[in-house]
Amino acid sequence: MGRPQVVLGVSGGIAAYKACELLRRLTESGHEVRVVPTESALHFVGEATWSALSGNPVPTRVWDDVHQVPHVRIGQHADLVVVAPATADLLARAAHGLADDLLTNTLLTARCPVVFAPAMHTEMWEHPATQDNVATLRRRGAVVIEPAVGRLTGADTGKGRLPEPAEIYEVCRRVLARGGALPRDLAGRHVVISAGGTREPLDPVRYLGNRSSGKQGYALARTAVARGARVTLVAANTGLPDPAGADVLTAGTADQLREAVLKAAADADVVVMAAAVADFRPAAYATGKIKKRDGEEPAPIPLVRNPDILAELSANRPRAGQLVVGFAAETDDVLANGRAKLARKGCDLLVVNEVGERKVFGAEENEAVVLGADGSETPVPHGPKEALADRVWDLVTARLG
Ligand code: CTP
Repeated sequence: MGRPQVVLGVSGGIAAYKACELLRRLTESGHEVRVVPTESALHFVGEATWSALSGNPVPTRVWDDVHQVPHVRIGQHADLVVVAPATADLLARAAHGLADDLLTNTLLTARCPVVFAPAMHTEMWEHPATQDNVATLRRRGAVVIEPAVGRLTGADTGKGRLPEPAEIYEVCRRVLARGGALPRDLAGRHVVISAGGTREPLDPVRYLGNRSSGKQGYALARTAVARGARVTLVAANTGLPDPAGADVLTAGTADQLREAVLKAAADADVVVMAAAVADFRPAAYATGKIKKRDGEEPAPIPLVRNPDILAELSANRPRAGQLVVGFAAETDDVLANGRAKLARKGCDLLVVNEVGERKVFGAEENEAVVLGADGSETPVPHGPKEALADRVWDLVTARLG
């Protein structure tokens, strides 16, 4: 088997320069990339750059190399087409099936999965015309990544930023790994995911925390976006880049996490509590740094219980049919302890991590058994956190009906 053939379409927005980084990631990970920029993209980044970075000639017009019929061949031979940045104009032309340049011809002839990474000003993104075009493209099976929120060209900030190239690359890799279009079985669903670990402050410089990296929660967010969900990710102290297409909220403490999750859960179809929430917090917060005193033992730190968010969510579901998923790390009697915890928390699924030698905080891989309130038991073998995430979504979609 040859190297996967990727077409990188670039349309005319200032974010075109970020597509160079995406191109570099794709080539360095063994993909054969043909870049197809639009005429206006070339105003931002020139042909020489695309050609040098891809190691391939860069056709820009339908009229280049006509004897090779490029307007048909490039799309036909692709395993994946990714358009980054996709401007409002490009999305409109793609949604309407126009074929007025080489990139839109390629989109019409491609039978492989197609990923669009839009970038534009907030007003253009929110305009009903653009939203209709995005809905049309998604209905036809394309993956349209939600733009990120942040600094736009000039002084503006808002939704419309191109997601980080590393995130677009991850989406491409996943789409290719599945050997075709991703299942869109979470389309129209709102899922809320908590990730990371809470920190309970003791004084302005110290906290009680834990070693959760947030990687499993982020893998859940990425895979849910890829399967079509609207994703709200509540991140506690992770320092990880925002997953493309997810709305990311941040929380520091268990209380802040609780507030953010409960608010987002009001209209959610699924809530997944992957965050490691501190069970206790210091009873008092010292506004000044706690000082040591020579010759004195340190005073004990009184702790109080934090609310159990998972149990609260499971007991008071704001929406009928809402599914609640919890996580648990167990060392001994994994299944018995897991079953007892599932019953105690009242959630629908509990992902029980077997804490063993190979399990390290911050690792890229994981293994687990997913217990269902219906008595089911699904072992998930050691593998990437995204594989476990996809298995969780399989179990969730089967229960959403
Ligand atoms: N959890 C929560 N709120 C808390 C503590 C935990 O929502 N205050 C959630 C976690 O997000 C996770 C699940 O509960 O989904 C299990 O957490 P875990 O720490 O394993 O369970 P505990 O109830 O703390 O049980 P124990 O520490 O006794 O094993």
